[in-house]
Order: sequence, then structure tokens, then C-alpha cells
Amino acid sequence: MSTHLLKVENVTKVFRYGILGFKFRAVDDVSIVIEDKPMIFTIAGESGSGKTTLAKLILKIYRPEQGRILFMGRDIYRIDDNEYHRCIQPIMQDPYASFNPMQKPIRYLRETARNIAGIRDEKEVEERIAKTLSYVGLNYVDVVNKYPHEFSGGELQRLAIARALIPRPRLIIADEPVSMLDASLRINIINLFKKIKEDLGISFIYITHDLATAYYMSNKIAIMFRGTVVELGDARKVLSNPLHPYTQTLIESLPEPSPKKRRYWMEKKIKFSTYIEEEEFVIKGCKYVFRCPYTIDKCKHVLPPYIKVDDTEVRCWLYEKK
Ligand SMILES: Nc1ncnc2c1ncn2[C@@H]1O[C@H](COP(=O)(O)OP(=O)(O)OP(=O)(O)O)[C@@H](O)[C@H]1O
Ligand SMILES: [Mg+2]
Repeated sequence: MSTHLLKVENVTKVFRYGILGFKFRAVDDVSIVIEDKPMIFTIAGESGSGKTTLAKLILKIYRPEQGRILFMGRDIYRIDDNEYHRCIQPIMQDPYASFNPMQKPIRYLRETARNIAGIRDEKEVEERIAKTLSYVGLNYVDVVNKYPHEFSGGELQRLAIARALIPRPRLIIADEPVSMLDASLRINIINLFKKIKEDLGISFIYITHDLATAYYMSNKIAIMFRGTVVELGDARKVLSNPLHPYTQTLIESLPEPSPKKRRYWMEKKIKFSTYIEEEEFVIKGCKYVFRCPYTIDKCKHVLPPYIKVDDTEVRCWLYEKK
């Protein structure tokens, strides 16, 4: 029996961009482990850092060029698709895009119950749906005849959560699940995730820009930057005591570098901002090198390994054991 629910091992995904088809690594040598106990594992990082691409690799929507992903110790490409998707379910960002406006959401719930959860008996299908809807705070009778436009954004996201729960998965991948909801509704959905974790023992990969909700709900966190995981560890520890210069900037607690260095860094950032993104994706070394106030020569040439500092893993030469 594996002690890991999910293990992502040195995974790389290459895309091409531009008319010349330059290759870049949208996900670059990423390793993460989700232990086999209920937990919320957050992946945070700025736009374009590779969070959704990583989620799609885990969901088997993309296949990695390098590395492998293990679920309960088995390579996910050796697991039958139906079996895998019964165990791992997605919840996406836009609740309105999750449902076809021309079809009643109940139809998706039924299809999920029949095709993914594999329930054959029609009475059981309706029972599983009713029970799951009530668990997420919706009423079967209110849902059954409605079209998507007759629900609020928050209700549609609850329907998406119900759909994900119907197969009784082990892991839910929620990609920016609350970013399109009003602030007042977000906390209810976040609390529902915590409740699902605690009552049903389901783990989450929670993808977000929002470090406040990450701090509130997650057990572990991985900070991504330009395709690499730069820091990984206990969420509260990482967010209250960030080690990587990027994480420090991300949570705006950058310890004061010397004013001269800071000015140099800001000027450099502004000067290079037009093509810096491309450079960051293709550089062989640390991708943060163009923005980092602590850069040394080595950073440009070699991507640092995961270096353990207490229980946190950080990919930064500053922490190299001498
Ligand atoms: N199918 C694709 N083909 C080519 N490039 C892609 C493809 N999907 C994503 N990319 C590029 O890969 C990089 C990572 O994208 P990704 O969507 O994973 O980022 P993200 O962290 O989810 O961003 P956001 O926070 O905006 O959702 C971006 O530069 C994006 O433009
Ligand atoms: Mg994304």
C-alpha cells in the first residue's frame, strides 16, 4: 500500500509559442507529493506560472514530456481512464462555463452518476444525486427542472462541487474555484471544501492567486513561478516565513534589501519587463534571476535543486548547504 495518494515526479510539459514555434517549459521539473491523508494542498503563483497546466497533467488532459505521476503508487497512464476519473475529479474556475446553458444541470449529474460513478440502478442514481445536493446545501426539488441561468454563480459552483462528489473521489482538483464569485460567497465555498475534507476524507488540490484563502484553508502549499515550484512546505510556515525571494515578494514581505540594490532591481525590472517573460521561461537556471535582488552568477546557469530548510523545500542557491 502506498503512503502517497499522488506523487508528481520531475514532471515537465513543453509548449510552443509564436510563429517560429519556440519551445518553452510551461511546467519544468515539478515534484510534489500528496500524502494519503485528507489534506488541502494549495498551488499558488502569479498568472502564467503553470498552475493550470500542472492540474491538466494530473487530470491526464496533457501528457508530460518528462517525469511521471503516480496515483496510489501506480503510474496514472497504467490506470484505466474511467477508474482514474472516478478517483480524481475537477472543479473549474467559471461556474457558468461548467454547464451548457441549453441543458439542465441535473442531466450532467445523472451522466456523472451513471458513467463515472458507475451506478446502474436509476433509483440509486436519483438517491445519490439528492443526497449529494443536500450535502452541498442545495435541494433536489429546486434543482431538477432548472437551467443554468436560473441559478446564481454560487449555486452553480455548488452544483459543480456536487457533480465532483457524486463519484466519491479521493482527490478533487479545484482550479481557482472561487475567483469568479463575490467575496461574500467565497468563504462559504471555502468552508464547504474544509467540511468535505473533514467529513468525507477527500483531499484537495486548491489552485489560487489568493494567499489569504490559502493561509486559511491549506495544509501544504507549493509556490510556482514560471513553471517551477520554488518553495514547498507547510502552508502557514511558508506564508508566515517565506524563504524564496519570489515568495517573499509575492506576499509583500520582502525583507529590506539595501536601498541601492532595491533601486537597481526595480530599474532592471522596468527595463526588462517587455521581454522578461519569454526569457524567464527559457533560461536554464533559476527563472527568477531577472527580478531577484540576490542573484549570483550560478543562478543564471543552474536551476537549484529542492533544498530542505527545516521542513520546507526551497529551490534557491541562497540556501545551499556549504
Ligand atoms: N495549450 C497551450 N499551448 C501553448 N501554451 C500554453 C497552453 N496552455 C498554457 N500555455 C502557456 O503556458 C504558460 C502557463 O499557463 P497556465 O495556464 O498553466 O498558467 P496559470 O498559472 O494557470 O495562469 P493563471 O493564473 O492565469 O490561470 C503560460 O505562458 C500560457 O500562455
Ligand atoms: Mg490557470
